Amino acid sequence: MRNPLSLVQTYKMTNHKITVAIDGHSSCGKSTIAKALAARLGYAYIDSGAMYRAVTLYAMRYKLVNSGNVKVQELIGVLTEIKIEFKYNPSTQKSETYLNGENVEDEIRQLTVSQNVSPIAAIPQIREAMVQLQKEMGKNKGIVMDGRDIGTVVFPDAELKLFVTARSEIRAKRRFDELTNKGETVSLADILHNIEERDRIDSTREASPLRKAADALILDNSNMNQEEQLDWVMRKVRERLEGNF
Ligand code: DC
Repeated sequence: MRNPLSLVQTYKMTNHKITVAIDGHSSCGKSTIAKALAARLGYAYIDSGAMYRAVTLYAMRYKLVNSGNVKVQELIGVLTEIKIEFKYNPSTQKSETYLNGENVEDEIRQLTVSQNVSPIAAIPQIREAMVQLQKEMGKNKGIVMDGRDIGTVVFPDAELKLFVTARSEIRAKRRFDELTNKGETVSLADILHNIEERDRIDSTREASPLRKAADALILDNSNMNQEEQLDWVMRKVRERLEGNF
């Protein structure tokens, strides 16, 4: 008799879990897809970019970065004093970022943090520390993590890898709407410049540059809404799961 439960339901009831690695360009909606996918699968979601943003916020507060100029050795020297955690907030139903015990979820999304984060994320010692934490978080699988090096460095053996992208003008408009809705006064041109600049630095840096893993599937969501993307990704998840039943 055919199993009356959907494959995903059946899958949730077993202990077999996969790892989903989502990489791609800045502001292309990776985290939106990753969050929705994690919720659908009952998996943990980790936003690895939030970790680099939290380190950046710390550096900004202690004047270890200014206009993209980082006091690299000083920042590396205080790395052990930077504690980053994620805690689930039942009222917002979101996992939120904590820096040394303080909820910094909103602050790390500000444009000033975005403007300083790329050079900090390019420092090899900082990447090593973050990657170690990320591997630890994913050691039992059942995780969806998004970032720039998840499929290439953090989880090279992930069962499903996605590389998400969209045209930069579309990405800038989406981020502009998001920040404006939060009450931030920003210019579309500044955001577009920031996105293209981050893409450039992320893709050309020496330490773990952004690149598509050989076995990652490309998802260009320029002309897709969130529901279409989730359907697309769920089909890919199902294909992976079918291989296990
Ligand atoms: O995804 P995001 O825009 O919040 O990421 C912030 C910055 O951190 C981005 O400019 C690139 C960097 N990053 C990275 O280098 N590696 C990751 N795994 C995630 C983010």
